[in-house]
Amino acid sequence: MTTFPYVITVSSEKGGVGKTTLATNLAIFLKALDEELPVSIFSFDNHFTIDKMFSFKGMEHSGSVSDLLTGKPGGELVRTGQYGVNYIPSSGTLSQEKVKVKDPMALAKLLASSGLDGIVIIDTRPDLDILTENALYAADKVLIPVKDMPSLENCKNIFTLFDKRGLDKKSLVLIPCLIDERIKFDGLFTDQKTLLRAFAINRGYKCHETYISKSPKVESLNTNPDGRIYPVLTHGRGTDVHGQFTSLARDILYEYRETSEPRSYLFHQWLVAESEKERSTFEARLGGVKKECLICNKHILQATTQTAGYYYETSDGISSGFMDEECFLKVLTTSVYKFKVTESEDDPTLMLLKESTRESVFVFRPDPGNSSGAMEFRRFDTSGQLLTSRRINYREHAGGMFHDDRCPLYDLMGAALAGYGNTFREAFLIIHPVDPHSPDKILQKDSYRSFSHLKGNIATRLI
Ligand SMILES: Nc1ncnc2c1ncn2[C@@H]1O[C@H](COP(=O)(O)OP(=O)(O)OP(=O)(O)O)[C@@H](O)[C@H]1O
Ligand SMILES: [Mg+2]
Repeated sequence: MTTFPYVITVSSEKGGVGKTTLATNLAIFLKALDEELPVSIFSFDNHFTIDKMFSFKGMEHSGSVSDLLTGKPGGELVRTGQYGVNYIPSSGTLSQEKVKVKDPMALAKLLASSGLDGIVIIDTRPDLDILTENALYAADKVLIPVKDMPSLENCKNIFTLFDKRGLDKKSLVLIPCLIDERIKFDGLFTDQKTLLRAFAINRGYKCHETYISKSPKVESLNTNPDGRIYPVLTHGRGTDVHGQFTSLARDILYEYRETSEPRSYLFHQWLVAESEKERSTFEARLGGVKKECLICNKHILQATTQTAGYYYETSDGISSGFMDEECFLKVLTTSVYKFKVTESEDDPTLMLLKESTRESVFVFRPDPGNSSGAMEFRRFDTSGQLLTSRRINYREHAGGMFHDDRCPLYDLMGAALAGYGNTFREAFLIIHPVDPHSPDKILQKDSYRSFSHLKGNIATRLI
């Protein structure tokens, strides 16, 4: 059965506001309130607090959050740790790996197919980097600890980010943390939490009913001879913080149970719809292309014998399809480069041309209105860098009117760009190499987008 987790991200750009303490202890309290509920946690920070807190002595680790980011399902990376909480080991190399993460929605997509279940808690770095952004967009609920006015000011950036992306900000909730109960003020707002809450509400931010007090006992939980970090649940009994975490965990459990469709499920539905759309667009594209070689008319897109080496499209979109590699090379050798090659497959000149041709994109543009005469020929590399540009003269019959030797370039132009009467259309023909093992891959979403982008680039330079 496919499972979809409810995701809670703990985030604040401000350091030392209690993010990790909140994330880790919340996981433990949730598990304590409902033993059956799978609770998993991982961190995008590199201080290994999660690992110190949840790992068992001598536990073997394979895989970490880095693997999660490269697509390994979260369900295969989690291990059951102390207090029954599942965790994905932290990674010390995230700062190098995060540069590869470009899509801010990548984690949301990964969690939608992670196989994780129940509640997933994500601890983040005090930084709005791409990983934090990912964690924010994947979350059903974002807990933003605020301990003072600077941290309250800072959370504006998270709200702005959501505005920019057009995302619903109702998942964002502030929670006063490290509240020193001894500090009292005169006037309307008598203490730190009331003051912070009033300022938060005044700015239009949602603020959690519960707050977390500053407690010397809690502060001491990560300083002990064992080098471990102890949880509030077991080592902070009798403190206010213990009661506050119980109350927070209860509220969250209630919200979790009330959520029938977490974001990971909605993302899953969106991904299914997207891939269905991609499939039908691909099939429509494939249905519209000529399956026979444009030059020799041989069927080259059969499932078993695919010999297509090149994809072609005309700039007016009227004609598109594939070409046999040998056929296209013949056009190049006889009509463009005009050199003689032997029949032998290992003719060094032919081999050289074959190799360099696979790295190039070709453009042919006949002079408009003429059915024979001159045309522009350009050769680009596959990134769109112009390599050569020249004009080519061609005729229907390579050896003159009364000669049988038809010019293959003339036939190619006729097949692709034939227009009204005996003229060519006012368009150009672009020819792009394809993977001979799966030529139709060029018609798939990302490859076709790159091809169209390249074609657009070239078109603007031909004007
Ligand atoms: N309720 C609390 N009472 C007392 N001390 C606390 C409390 N919560 C956290 N601390 C202490 O405050 C310090 C910062 O907490 P924590 O590491 O959770 O913050 P953080 O926001 O995750 O920090 P960073 O931004 O560096 O990741 C730690 O030393 C922690 O023990
Ligand atoms: Mg932290």
